[in-house]
Amino acid sequence: MESKPKIIVAENARAAATAAAVEFVNAVRSAQNRNEYATVALSGGSTPRQMHRLLTRSPYKTAIDWNRVHLFWADDRLVPYYDNASNFGTACDDLIDPLQLDQEQVHPMPVTGNPTALADDYEGVLRAYFSRAGSQPPVFDLVCLGLGADGHTASLFPANPALKEKRRWVVAVEGGIPHVSRLTLTLPVINNAGGIMILATGESKAEIVRLAVKQPGARLPVQNIRPTDGSMVWILDASAAQLLYGNAR
Ligand code: 6PG
Repeated sequence: MESKPKIIVAENARAAATAAAVEFVNAVRSAQNRNEYATVALSGGSTPRQMHRLLTRSPYKTAIDWNRVHLFWADDRLVPYYDNASNFGTACDDLIDPLQLDQEQVHPMPVTGNPTALADDYEGVLRAYFSRAGSQPPVFDLVCLGLGADGHTASLFPANPALKEKRRWVVAVEGGIPHVSRLTLTLPVINNAGGIMILATGESKAEIVRLAVKQPGARLPVQNIRPTDGSMVWILDASAAQLLYGNAR
C-alpha cells in the first residue's frame, strides 16, 4: 500500500533548508543505529546548497558521526569537478571539504569518458559498495532529490527513455540546464531507498509543485518517485507551496 508522502512547508528557503538538514540528520542517525554506515545519494543544482552548508555547522555537524556516512550522487553532469556545474564539485565546496570527509567515504560519479561506459562504471561502484551481485538494487538510506521546473528530478527528464529503465541502476542521458551529458540513478534504485527527500523552493517551482502533488495525470518524471518500502517527504518553502492549498500569494 503506497503511503502518501509527507509535505513540510517552511516559511522561507532558509527554513526549508533547515528542515531538510533535520530530515538528513534524522535519516542518517536512524541508519547509523541499524548499520555501521549510513548511505546517502545527493542531488545537485542550487537548492540543496544551503542545506549542505548548514550540515557543516552546529547542531547538524555534531548530530551525526560523519565518519560513518558514505556519500553518493543521484546524478551529475559530465563536466570537470572544478566546473561550477559539477554537483560533486559544489558538494565539495559546501559540505565535503568543510567536514574534511575522507575520500574513502565519498563516491563521486565519474565524469571523463564515454557516458555509457561511465554509467556502467558507477553501477560497478554501487555493486561493490553494496555487495550486490544480482539484480536487486541497492538500498540507500536516504536519496536527496530536487525538482526542475519541467518536473524532472535527478537527471530523469520528461519523455526520456531513462524513465523506463528497469534493469540498469545508472544510465547516461543528455539534457537539463546546462544541456550536457549526465549520469543519473534510475527509478529502481531511487525508489528502493529507505528514505527519499524532495527539496523545492521558490516561486518558480510553485506551478510544477502543484502539478506534481495534485495532478497525478500530469505524468511528470518526479511523479515516478514512489518508494517501494521507504518513506518520502516533500520539503517546500511557502513560495513553492503557494498553489497547493488554494492560498496563492
Ligand atoms: C541536477 C539536479 C537536478 C536539480 C533540479 C533543480 O543535476 O540538475 O540534480 O535534478 O535537482 O534541476 O535544480 P535547482 O535546485 O537548481 O532548481
